[in-house]
Amino acid sequence: MTPIQDCLINKKKTNTPIWLMRQAGRYLPEFRKIRKLNPNFINLCLNEELSSEITLQPLKRFNLDAAIIFSDILMLPYALNQKVEFKKNFGPALGFLDSDKMLSVNEIDFLEKLNPIYKSINKVSKNDLIKDKDLIGFVGAPWTLLVYMINKHSPKKKLIKNFFENKILIDKILIILEKFLKIHIKQQIQNGATVIQIFDSWAGLLPKKDLPNYIYIPTLNLVNYIKSLNTPVICFPRGIKNYKEFCETVKPDAINIDYEIDPISISKEIKIPVQGGLNPKILLSDKENLKKETLKYLNTFKDHPYIFNLGHGVIPETDPSMVEYLVKFVKDY
Ligand code: CP3
Repeated sequence: MTPIQDCLINKKKTNTPIWLMRQAGRYLPEFRKIRKLNPNFINLCLNEELSSEITLQPLKRFNLDAAIIFSDILMLPYALNQKVEFKKNFGPALGFLDSDKMLSVNEIDFLEKLNPIYKSINKVSKNDLIKDKDLIGFVGAPWTLLVYMINKHSPKKKLIKNFFENKILIDKILIILEKFLKIHIKQQIQNGATVIQIFDSWAGLLPKKDLPNYIYIPTLNLVNYIKSLNTPVICFPRGIKNYKEFCETVKPDAINIDYEIDPISISKEIKIPVQGGLNPKILLSDKENLKKETLKYLNTFKDHPYIFNLGHGVIPETDPSMVEYLVKFVKDY
């Protein structure tokens, strides 16, 4: 059994495994080199050779316990025929949302569009570097995808005015998302993903009263589906504040926490395995500080099944030697 599965399934508390969100990305010079030659991010995700190579780049450098497939949560609206672009210094920009056109997308067209991702997963899963390790597949949670599809760009602190104006459109989109997210998840698993992570990056934007409709019910649906495929699932409802209620309602195999929540209260309140927490900005400081902050999480969760990770993705300005130090420190703990 892999170290991560040992933690997720057997609730093992020792030999803390580690992987990092955005472990493949702009902080690595070998990624920037490929990226420079491939200005279109979507095409890069759909390049089987390059996306599998990028996925494995961090494993060549660091003693990580998992690879996460190099793709993006917005490949889903892309495959549903909404225009998606990644603009430099701006982030994602989405086009007009035509729900009728989306309703006409069938499974065959969808799979054909995303086929290079599945082939890439398959290729990575057969590589020696992933032997006895996990390959993490992922999706965006329905709520976070809805945010991008309606808001059209990252919301930063709040949603566009009138976000909830067209409830019929929202309900239609949620139904389409549920269907295609399940297809996307199943394909990733069939091609070699051994764990699925659900990213709900904008969970923190919703008031408490809206959590059942937009987060708990749609996410529980996916979690139950992933469990039915005998695959562990990790949820990351970033900024949700009430992680306890989320865990008790949605019941994932593990919960990734953000860096704003106090890890001590999480370790007391939450019974299931926990992942993550460290502020990625700590990797921009110095090794002494990194050691101190890393120890805070390791010590807090020493009697809890815990997977080391960050509270959000690695920042592009990070020095790879800091990541190296972190991975080694966690492995030697
Ligand atoms: O973690 C990994 O290494 C795997 C690959 C991965 C990417 N995006 C690659 C990527 C994963 C798991 C994601 C998930 C994702 N994508 C999320 C959820 C996690 C989070 O960050 O909150 C979200 C919200 C997105 C949407 C998205 N994609 C944004 C907002 C951006 C722009 C921000 C940025 O860093 O530029 C992207 C682009 C993106 N996705 C990049 C990478 C490596 C940067 C692209 C580049 O090289 O310019």
